[in-house]
Amino acid sequence: MKRGEKIVFGLIALVVVATITRNIITLETQSKPDPGIPFYSTANAELAQAGALLYRNQQCRQCHSLWSVRNMMEAVPAPALDGMGSLRTERWLYDYLSSANPQSILQSRMKVEYRMPSYAALPEADRRTLARYLSSLKVQDWYLEDTRKAEYEKRTGLNYQP
Ligand code: HEC
Repeated sequence: MKRGEKIVFGLIALVVVATITRNIITLETQSKPDPGIPFYSTANAELAQAGALLYRNQQCRQCHSLWSVRNMMEAVPAPALDGMGSLRTERWLYDYLSSANPQSILQSRMKVEYRMPSYAALPEADRRTLARYLSSLKVQDWYLEDTRKAEYEKRTGLNYQP
């Protein structure tokens, strides 16, 4: 082989190796797509607005976080409400909000002043709206177990055993 040919073959080999390497890297990043944010709501615009308004007016965020927004003044380790509609049914949420003693439904490990308050005094229509809104807060299947674990551990202070 002449010297010039060697250089040409060398260059071709280099290009082939570089292309293969690039394809492998691209394939790897494609097979691990960024799964994105797992939380979403199925509420229509009207329910989303009414729910968010009640959520704000009833001071839920004093203790809870939602859409991963955490109130910096939040002192209570209450469970996050993201994905709540994949953990509880609308019926359960309505009963919980309507109970004169929510701790008879879910035991609390908190001091009395930090526990989930009763919203039984709230007009029925508002409790229905809140329950519908909360049940619209879903989590993608791939994050359901993590959400369940986080809810359980926040609420009970115990390790979650699937
Ligand atoms: C004073 C703090 C506080 C406020 C205000 C509050 N919560 Fe809670 N909430 C808690 C705590 C703490 C728990 C966990 C149960 C317990 O310890 O009583 C809880 C539990 C819940 C649960 C059940 C969570 C689960 O793990 O299944 C839902 C749903 C909920 N709250 C919704 C709301 C909504 C909606 C509002 C506003 C209308 C609200 N909370 C206001 C403290 C609060």
